[in-house]
Amino acid sequence: MMLWPIQYYILYDFIEDTNDGLGSLYCITVRTGTKAEPGNSFRPGSAADAALSQSICFERSQSMTLFAAARLPREILFGKGQRHALPAIASRYGRRAFICTDERLAGMSEFTEILAGLEAARVDTLVYDRTLPEVPRDSVGACIAEAKSFKPDMVIGVGGGSCLDMAKCAALLLSHGGKLQDYYGEFKVPGSLPLIAVPTTAGTGSEVTPVAVISDPERTLKVGISSPHLIAAVALCDPDLTATCPPSLTAIAGADALTHAIEAFTAAKRGADADLPQQHVFIGKSALTDHFALLAIRLLGRSLEAAYHDGANENARADVMMGALAAGCAFGTAGTAAAHAVQYPVGALTHTPHGLGVATMLPYVMSYNLSAATEEIAELGGALGVPRQDRDADQLADATIKEVARLFKAIGITRTLADLGLPEDKIDWTAEQALGIDRLIKNNPRPFDLAAMRRLVRAAYDGDMAAAAIVRDGARVK
Ligand SMILES: NC(=O)c1ccc[n+]([C@@H]2O[C@H](COP(=O)([O-])OP(=O)(O)OC[C@H]3O[C@@H](n4cnc5c(N)ncnc54)[C@H](O)[C@@H]3O)[C@@H](O)[C@H]2O)c1
Ligand SMILES: [Fe+2]
Repeated sequence: MMLWPIQYYILYDFIEDTNDGLGSLYCITVRTGTKAEPGNSFRPGSAADAALSQSICFERSQSMTLFAAARLPREILFGKGQRHALPAIASRYGRRAFICTDERLAGMSEFTEILAGLEAARVDTLVYDRTLPEVPRDSVGACIAEAKSFKPDMVIGVGGGSCLDMAKCAALLLSHGGKLQDYYGEFKVPGSLPLIAVPTTAGTGSEVTPVAVISDPERTLKVGISSPHLIAAVALCDPDLTATCPPSLTAIAGADALTHAIEAFTAAKRGADADLPQQHVFIGKSALTDHFALLAIRLLGRSLEAAYHDGANENARADVMMGALAAGCAFGTAGTAAAHAVQYPVGALTHTPHGLGVATMLPYVMSYNLSAATEEIAELGGALGVPRQDRDADQLADATIKEVARLFKAIGITRTLADLGLPEDKIDWTAEQALGIDRLIKNNPRPFDLAAMRRLVRAAYDGDMAAAAIVRDGARVK
């Protein structure tokens, strides 16, 4: 008998399997330790191969390039009444907590209860309750001046995105000093005090994201500090804390969340290059961010309108807060794209809330992206509740954009940039500024040049959805 030297081959066979009832899959079969000629294809499942082969199946779209990345808090707690866990959590991080909030929230009974709970757990607190919306740069200096001598072990942010972003900036400057400007951009933050984020709005996702957004008086557009070190150690999400949000805040914050999820899900696929996540905080679409984005879209699709119309509907409130959280988990790594890029200059000119600006832009941006992201838009339509019926991907994608526009109209989102107050003579300036926000533009599935961006902004100004879908002057996509 001839003894073969043991040779280990690893064969990867990519076999399309369409008979599994789950739609089209690619199966990667790995076979080791058998004599076979590299390059020989085989069907897995034969008696000879059964013991030696292992098949792993992926959806077709992910087959050859499966890639995922997620940067998240150490602990995420979500649910009615979870705020009562704060004393136990805080006491694991030390004995001294600096709390950032605003005047309105500091006056609420839930906040008084939070302080009493921390005191009972023997955690000393110092409260800064003058956080302003959109976090003006110099207000951060005033905030930490009060906290320096207190020498906190942790920072707790209680409030909307503004209070959470203030808490992130405070945690950074209290541990590393310097000026906020030193940290603008990506990966400039060397570390931070532990942060516990307790959101009271359902929208920004700041409780899980690696970014703090601030207004700098020396810059026209708002600026971001982006670093994994800015991610809260704990995100503590209790939907009861959103019960007092008025309908307009519920709508604007919720529409921001839906925009995060949709922009993350339709973001460019920027590949599995090992350098990418090391060089950029926001890196485009991947398997894990898709998972969170679809969850967010499903929850917001089924409940944002209900929460807007009836703020006492606890189930709807919970869905919307969870949707905002999941959207944060998606865009915190994937990033957002053109709707956010255009909002930066529009927000600077019109002084309208962030969520209102991005949501106004979203249907036009989806129309612009239709030719490059038809499958993704059609797929997210399913999560949003658009009936598939016997529609093909093009028809489903079209119906999805109409559904987003309908939902936003139903919750009072402005329909056009003109209605938002953008002066007509600022359309070109807006397009130039938006195009300059490289990190967001790079993330868009369909590329831009200045002419294309001008057409998009003009279309959103005029309320002309069809014009937003134009590929180039005079040529319609659909
Ligand atoms: N860091 C991030 O990842 C991220 C993402 C998106 C947006 N942002 C930023 O977040 C900010 C917007 O945050 P926001 O939309 O949460 O609003 P916000 O924090 O600016 O708050 C808006 C108003 O709502 C009030 N409010 C908050 N919670 C309330 C409640 N439960 N009941 C009643 N009123 C309440 C506040 O007191 C405030 O007056 C912007 O500065 C934006 O740039 C940050
Ligand atoms: Fe946003």
